[in-house]
Amino acid sequence: MGDNRFVSVGLVGLGRLGRQHAENLAHRIPNCRLTAVCSIKAEEVEEAQAQLGVPYGYTDYEEMLRNKELDAIFIASPSSYHCDQIEKALAAGFHVFSEKPLGLYMEEALRVQEAVRSHPHQVFMIGFMRRYDRSYLYAKQKIEAGAIGEPVLIRCYGLDPAQAMPGFLQFAKSNYSGGLFLDMAIHDLDLARWYLGVEAERVWAIGGSHRYTELAQLQDAETGAALVQFAGNKMGVFVAGRNCAHGYHIETEIIGTLGSLRIGTVPEKNQVAIMDDRGVVRECAQGFLERFEQAYLDEAIEFVQAILEGRQPGVRVEDGVLSTALGYACKESYDSGRLVEVAA
Ligand code: NAI
Repeated sequence: MGDNRFVSVGLVGLGRLGRQHAENLAHRIPNCRLTAVCSIKAEEVEEAQAQLGVPYGYTDYEEMLRNKELDAIFIASPSSYHCDQIEKALAAGFHVFSEKPLGLYMEEALRVQEAVRSHPHQVFMIGFMRRYDRSYLYAKQKIEAGAIGEPVLIRCYGLDPAQAMPGFLQFAKSNYSGGLFLDMAIHDLDLARWYLGVEAERVWAIGGSHRYTELAQLQDAETGAALVQFAGNKMGVFVAGRNCAHGYHIETEIIGTLGSLRIGTVPEKNQVAIMDDRGVVRECAQGFLERFEQAYLDEAIEFVQAILEGRQPGVRVEDGVLSTALGYACKESYDSGRLVEVAA
């Protein structure tokens, strides 16, 4: 393994998000080198190597793990591969960053938690990037400073743009995403735990597919809602969806005993208001890369810094496991139509 002033990273997954991580790791992070990339699609590997000047390219993940120049593995492959790839990278001695969700099933998430705990000197981080978004961070600081008293209820909208639906349908036919709650609402479930400071106890989730009925055949829902009771009688209301006509709508409200806070109430693309014969138009962000560009970069900077400083980052494997437990309980409730207790 390499030079201790630099972190050499091998990235797996060069799709919608992985390609963005590749650019950040290659060019935008001090003391970081993107040394290897891996995808099962050879053309993606060749493109990234050529465009970003990456020395090593692989179509086989285990072959990349044999590269002794690497210090860390960054995982942006489809969710069903995360746990296996995390375990293999930890066993091979690497620091590991994994995209969300940690796992699609509780057993594999708990297995990863054990693996992380048995490698305490290797950094592990899960990609809950919203915790690194400037607005979400600012809200956290305000809450900690007592600005809204004690937070007691969180209301979250996590809605993907309708224009991304054809791409999602194609993706979902060959990759099991975990369903609406584990795939989409997982960020909100993590934020709820972070802001409320307590764990979930029980959940009732409902949903359906009204425009794209083929989603039902994939055991998924187009729009869903979950009502969650947290410890201390705190509350969460989560709306997740994939058919948002106006764009990528990520909105969070935290209601406290002395006030409330809202983040992203109008999901504007930027500060421009267009005034014409339609009235006043504020265009909306159309996807996660646009809305969370800064957060994806800052979470990767935190991962690299944690490695260089020999510490664990703020987002831990336990956050991945507890959010997966809540997301999985939402899925069970949605599938069964019943109130579900969240696994401790
Ligand atoms: P994608 O389908 O666009 O890309 C997946 C990539 O992994 C492709 O390059 C594919 O060739 C590669 N791949 C597939 N199987 C592989 C294997 N066995 N070994 C090596 N490479 C393999 O998927 P997308 O949208 O980029 O999502 C990737 C992950 O990132 C998912 O787990 C998703 O949940 C997560 N994600 C997180 C977001 C966030 O906001 N934090 C936003 C979007 C995705």
